[in-house]
Amino acid sequence: MTAVGVIRGTTIDRRAVMPLLRRLRSDEGQADPFSVWDELRALGEVVPAPWGGYFVTGFEACDQILRGRDWLVPDFAWQERRSGMTRWQDPATREMTRTLSRLNPPTHTFQRRALGNLFDRGTLDVMQPQITSHVTGLLDRLGLLLRAHGEADFATTVGDRLPIQTVGHWLGIPAEHYPHILDFTHRQVHAQELSPTRSELGISAQATLEMRDFFTGLVAHRRAHPGDDVLTGWIRYWDAQYPDDRAAADQMLYDLTMFITIASLETTATLLTNAVWFVTQDPARADWLRRHPEHVDDAIDEVLRYDPPIHLNSRFAAEDTVLAGVPIAKDTTVHVLYGAANHDPRRNPNPHVFDIRRKGGHLTFGGGAHYCLGTALARMEARLLLTQLLDRFPTLRPVAGPTYANRMVFRRITSLRVTR
Ligand code: HEM
Repeated sequence: MTAVGVIRGTTIDRRAVMPLLRRLRSDEGQADPFSVWDELRALGEVVPAPWGGYFVTGFEACDQILRGRDWLVPDFAWQERRSGMTRWQDPATREMTRTLSRLNPPTHTFQRRALGNLFDRGTLDVMQPQITSHVTGLLDRLGLLLRAHGEADFATTVGDRLPIQTVGHWLGIPAEHYPHILDFTHRQVHAQELSPTRSELGISAQATLEMRDFFTGLVAHRRAHPGDDVLTGWIRYWDAQYPDDRAAADQMLYDLTMFITIASLETTATLLTNAVWFVTQDPARADWLRRHPEHVDDAIDEVLRYDPPIHLNSRFAAEDTVLAGVPIAKDTTVHVLYGAANHDPRRNPNPHVFDIRRKGGHLTFGGGAHYCLGTALARMEARLLLTQLLDRFPTLRPVAGPTYANRMVFRRITSLRVTR
């Protein structure tokens, strides 16, 4: 790797983005990533990264990568070609490399087909009454806290809890385990950051052990006590795929159950808390939406566009190629910046204006073969929550802006204080 990248004859110092990346990770950048994305985009559509590879800032170029068959996710084979880099030998990183999001065809195609459309209309119809009752219970609790103290933390009282109650109930996980699952998910995620420190990787390794212990135990218990539920269905399917290899079936079931659970938690929590933050920070906006519930889905999509719960995702070039006029060598990584793409003014004019009726485009759920499997569920949770909240708490307002965990890949809101 050299310290410079050459783009259309212009030499760009690969370290030029370092101050921006540092800012993105700081409190200031977490509160305002929008200006960081603008500054990155001002450097170019395809911007050299300090460690080799590129950040991609434009909507069209990001879309092309996500949908293109010539861009692959960094799998074990890619990591092994980087044998000198200890980063890829780390156990917490390797644990995630076995999951769906880090598999390429044909393994990825096989596993996606086996899962099918997890949240089709029929499944969502069955889940809806239960999610509604979770929303009611959580908002009851919010109301109690507001009456007792005058203000409450929406993120920890409701935003973080609805996703684990939803997925936990769907998978038949007893509620007493939810706090532990949330806890190891928040700690495991360090290994999925761009440049985790050694101590962060240590925290992640410990969380990975707890995560493995929990989900292998869950699968073993369900195997012993089958029911009429989704996990029992997966056990039957994968046992039939590996009739003579129980260990292979168990590994598969662990990877699947663990990944689908943790993929649904912080992402949806950020969407839910952001939805309340963006809608209620302007009383006129909240009031308008309460009187126009037919636009709740539009509001949710504008929240997803405006502030995506995942900041970036990576792919590598399967062959030598050219991206937005920039030659990219085989095996080079590109980091798709979802937020920068969503705020590309060529795709969404006046991108920093939050406009419920914009009908804009966004890449927040990714695209192509890896397009998020949980979009319909996340949207339904947000719809049921926002509708009931606007009805029951018409004057709810944030006391201050959210606070965030200092991360570059997975956004996490740690607090949003509200009052009414
Ligand atoms: C607002 C909430 C969510 C956001 C923003 C989100 C975002 C994403 C993104 C960006 C990807 C990667 C797409 C790509 O690489 O092109 C992804 C993949 C995935 N998501 Fe979500 N997600 C959310 C909720 C959920 C939920 C609720 C579930 C499951 C219950 C889920 C399950 C998955 C799975 C299994 C994948 C891997 C798909 C694959 O690689 O084939 N997600 N999600």
